Amino acid sequence: MKKVLVILLLLLVIAGIGYYGWQQYQEAQTRLWEEKAQLAEETLKPIKLQFKATLMNGLQQGVVEAIDYCNLEAPEITEKVPDGVEVGRTSHKVRNPANEPTDLLQAPLDYYLEMERLGNETSGQITQLPSGEWLYVEPIYTQAMCLACHGENLAPQVQTAINDKYPNDKATGFKEGELRGMFWLKLQEDFGE
Ligand code: HEC
Repeated sequence: MKKVLVILLLLLVIAGIGYYGWQQYQEAQTRLWEEKAQLAEETLKPIKLQFKATLMNGLQQGVVEAIDYCNLEAPEITEKVPDGVEVGRTSHKVRNPANEPTDLLQAPLDYYLEMERLGNETSGQITQLPSGEWLYVEPIYTQAMCLACHGENLAPQVQTAINDKYPNDKATGFKEGELRGMFWLKLQEDFGE
């Protein structure tokens, strides 16, 4: 009888230690994820700002002239992308087929669409991939300045120029405030350490 009690007690202690350890582990994990999400957000910020500045500069020459500026490829933008980071955009309605969501990006994109349907506010999300890399995503909402090329009524010459370059364009008909797509950022596992 005594032996059984001792064993029971021991098991309880072991379970207790295990639980404590698990909690510590979870807290450390949460902290790490929060840190990585913040790091990713801070890394994306100058890229987004430069993107917008480049696009606005382009628009000053005219909408048709600016068609090539809604892009992350410009050198002044790519130079804001540090080593160990990959950045891109995707959408549920793409203009450039190269931006179609991959299997990996489909889930967070669906999540943002669902949040929009429910009328919920959202922000950036982070996850760690099996490779150890961190995948950060952030929703992109349609602003007034986007409507000239993504809105409901494009000027005929803009429509023509877009059709010429993107015969399978799906990225029109958006309203201000609507989800336009998503930025994604992949960080190397030890990026920023
Ligand atoms: C002058 C026209 C123009 C304006 C203004 C414009 N875009 Fe675009 N947008 C394009 C073109 C052209 C592409 C395709 C770029 C490429 O080849 O990757 C594109 C692509 C995108 C993509 C990538 C997904 C896809 O459809 O291929 C997103 C996201 C996007 N635009 C969001 C925006 C947002 C947000 C704004 C406003 C801040 C905006 N765009 C303003 C022309 C424009």
